[in-house]
Amino acid sequence: MLLVTGGAGFIGSNFILSTLAEAGEAIVNLDKLTYAGNLRNLDALSSDARHIFLRGDIGDRALVKQALERHRPRAIVHFAAESHVDRSIVGPADFIQTNIVGTGSLLEEVRAYWDTLQGAQRTDFRFLHVSTDEVYGSLGPTDPAFSETTAYAPNSPYAASKAASDHLVRAYHHTYGLPTLTSNCSNNYGPYQFPEKLIPLVIRNALAGEPLPVYGDGKQVRDWLYVLDHCTAVRRILEAGRVGETYNIGGGSEKKNLDVVRTICAILDEARPRAKGSYADQITFVKDRPGHDRRYAIDGAKLGTELGWQAKETFETGLRKTVRWYLDHPAWTEEVTSGAYRNWVETNYARRGAA
Ligand SMILES: NC(=O)c1ccc[n+]([C@@H]2O[C@H](COP(=O)([O-])OP(=O)(O)OC[C@H]3O[C@@H](n4cnc5c(N)ncnc54)[C@H](O)[C@@H]3O)[C@@H](O)[C@H]2O)c1
Repeated sequence: MLLVTGGAGFIGSNFILSTLAEAGEAIVNLDKLTYAGNLRNLDALSSDARHIFLRGDIGDRALVKQALERHRPRAIVHFAAESHVDRSIVGPADFIQTNIVGTGSLLEEVRAYWDTLQGAQRTDFRFLHVSTDEVYGSLGPTDPAFSETTAYAPNSPYAASKAASDHLVRAYHHTYGLPTLTSNCSNNYGPYQFPEKLIPLVIRNALAGEPLPVYGDGKQVRDWLYVLDHCTAVRRILEAGRVGETYNIGGGSEKKNLDVVRTICAILDEARPRAKGSYADQITFVKDRPGHDRRYAIDGAKLGTELGWQAKETFETGLRKTVRWYLDHPAWTEEVTSGAYRNWVETNYARRGAA
């Protein structure tokens, strides 16, 4: 049994779906269902007894304690977080609360549970903390990519809150011996991503005939990782990662934001041509985000050489799959954009929340 936090979000739901498609092991999914949590992502599991949904906050110690005692997981995979940089600039408080305080209290309860384990259950237990490359700050155009030994220099409240949680995880290993693993990955993209993030936002707005907003000059560089590649990396680290270590996960695809937007437009021009002209005509440059990091790049050599993982998708193949998914699932985007999924969650979660 695994306990996954944040499993109704973008990466967490992809992780649960792909893990259950591969393995027989059950998963308890602890998720608060903030605006970013969408149980519809997990519709395919509605009659699968291996998925046990538990609505709650990682910072609710009584609830976490009860869940650990009841389900006795062999590992925790911790995705739950406030994750959107723009929101952290407008209001950092939720980021500090969930990412730092919430992770801190989750660690406390997990440590107490782990202390009760014995023998192989204790030595084989793992706490895998999912973090971001944004903790390393920003790179110049010719700087070497971020490695696991790059000094932390977070620039946004989001990145700072994730950096703080990484440090807590590290300290719980060094101080208490908790068998932790940390992964720092680059920008994910793929199915079920909330359309406030660049790629799904551009696909949605393009199809709706709305402007495609590009921050500043659009030359900010990001490394792009297809979400299902990220999920295989997380499973590999969980299975074979060295306790106490951190692993960077990259997609080997550095792209300028403007090029990402143009590529999406080109794919859509082919798959769903506009009556006239190209989707690229909808590109609109908007005022840059304050403190916008210029470049992120990941050196993924450690994960490759130690654990033999590499991304399956190139940016081109992953992006085509992603655009196809959004074209095939207009109702999902519509519900998320209109907020209808929230009503659905309010009326339906109790049905699955019996755990
Ligand atoms: N999306 C990316 O490109 C990316 C890149 C690097 C790292 N990450 C990290 O991966 C993890 C998952 O990211 P995502 O894009 O899936 O995020 P997301 O915002 O789509 O999902 C977050 C999930 O966590 C849940 N949640 C939030 N606060 C909670 C709380 N207090 N208790 C319980 N559940 C709570 C939400 O309801 C949601 O289901 C995050 O830790 C994020 O920092 C994401």
